[in-house]
Formats: sequence, structure tokens, C-alpha cells
Amino acid sequence: MEIREYRSGDFKACVELFVRVFNGEPCRDQWTQERASQYLDEAVHRRGFLGYVAVEDASARHGAQAAPQGLIFGHKVVWWNGDQFMIQMMCVETGTQRRGVGSALLKHLKRQLDLKGFMQINLLTRFQEWPASFYRKAGFLESEDLRFFYYFYKARSRVTLQGR
Ligand SMILES: CC(C)(COP(=O)(O)OP(=O)(O)OC[C@H]1O[C@@H](n2cnc3c(N)ncnc32)[C@H](O)[C@@H]1OP(=O)(O)O)[C@@H](O)C(=O)NCCC(=O)NCCS
Repeated sequence: MEIREYRSGDFKACVELFVRVFNGEPCRDQWTQERASQYLDEAVHRRGFLGYVAVEDASARHGAQAAPQGLIFGHKVVWWNGDQFMIQMMCVETGTQRRGVGSALLKHLKRQLDLKGFMQINLLTRFQEWPASFYRKAGFLESEDLRFFYYFYKARSRVTLQGR
């Protein structure tokens, strides 16, 4: 597997990968291609965007453009003590998970951000076990003082968030 910077030509395949993974376990979201396209389009055009994709090695695909097997997208956040990076999304193809692709993407991102002089990498994730365990194993610490608040427009909700 080769890790390289995201290119605009990866967009469609990244949307499809994102929908497959996040509509599956453990997230069970209900993304449509249209909503996911809007979400990723906003992400890649955000100021300070940086993204990497994991693709099959060039030698293994005989010159054909390979579809990404994993992606990690985020953006720079200016903070008082230096630049921080917010990982907005990360996913690995369902059938390719647990083979080290996610770890390789995260390792690559950490290295690149280190070279660029970033101070810190942040992310939000659901679930205490996996995928939280994935980030713990990669050296991420859990904040004890930050709390995530949200205000919910009940009347407008079309989706039941079971068990959340
Ligand atoms: C989370 C995710 C990005 C990890 O990528 P990955 O390629 O599967 O991860 P790796 O193979 O590098 O695994 C590294 C470690 O993470 C943990 N891990 C990964 N998948 C796991 C699973 N299904 N169950 C429990 N632990 C898991 C393990 O500790 C694993 O190490 P090990 O295999 O030596 O035990 C990927 O599984 C994924 O896309 N999940 C669904 C989408 C998601 O939840 N994204 C993050 C939301 S913020």
C-alpha cells in the first residue's frame, strides 16, 4: 500500500469509500452519495485542508489508477500556542480494515505535520471501544476536561439515533 497526498481526481472514489464505511459498522450512518459529496467537497475546499489516501502500490496495478483503500482528511486550526490539526474524517475500506492501513495513514500524517511544525493533532470520535482504541494505541490522549455539547432540533430529526 502506498500513501500519497489527496488529488482532486480521487474525489468520487473517496465519496464512495466514505459512504460504504460510515454506513457500515460500527457507525451505521445513513449517508446518501449526494450528502457525502457535499460533506467531502466542503472538507477538501476548506482553508488549511490536508488529506492523504492509501492506494495499492503502482507496481501491483499495472499503470491503472487505483481507488483509495483509506483516507485521512483534516485542516489546520490556528491556536494561541501554535498550529493544531483537526482530523475531520478517517476511514479504511471495510474489507481492508485491521491490516495496518489506518496506522500507516496516521503515521504518515503525524510525520508530515511534524515536518510542517504543527504543535498538536485533535479529533473527535464516537464509541469508547473501537475506534477509540485505535487512536489510543496510536498515542492519542483522551481529554478529561473537554465536553462535547450539541443542541438538537428534535422536530426536524428524520433519523432515530438508536443507542446513542
Ligand atoms: C478506525 C479505522 C480507521 C482503523 O483503520 P485500520 O486499518 O482498520 O486500523 P489498523 O489495522 O492499523 O489497526 C490498528 C489497531 O487499531 C485497533 N483496531 C482496528 N480495528 C479494530 C476493530 N475492528 N476492533 C478492535 N480494534 C481495532 C487495534 O488495536 C489495531 O491493532 P491490532 O490489529 O494490532 O490489534 C478503520 O477501522 C475504520 O475506517 N473504521 C470505520 C470508520 C471509523 O470508525 N472511522 C473513525 C471515526 S472518527
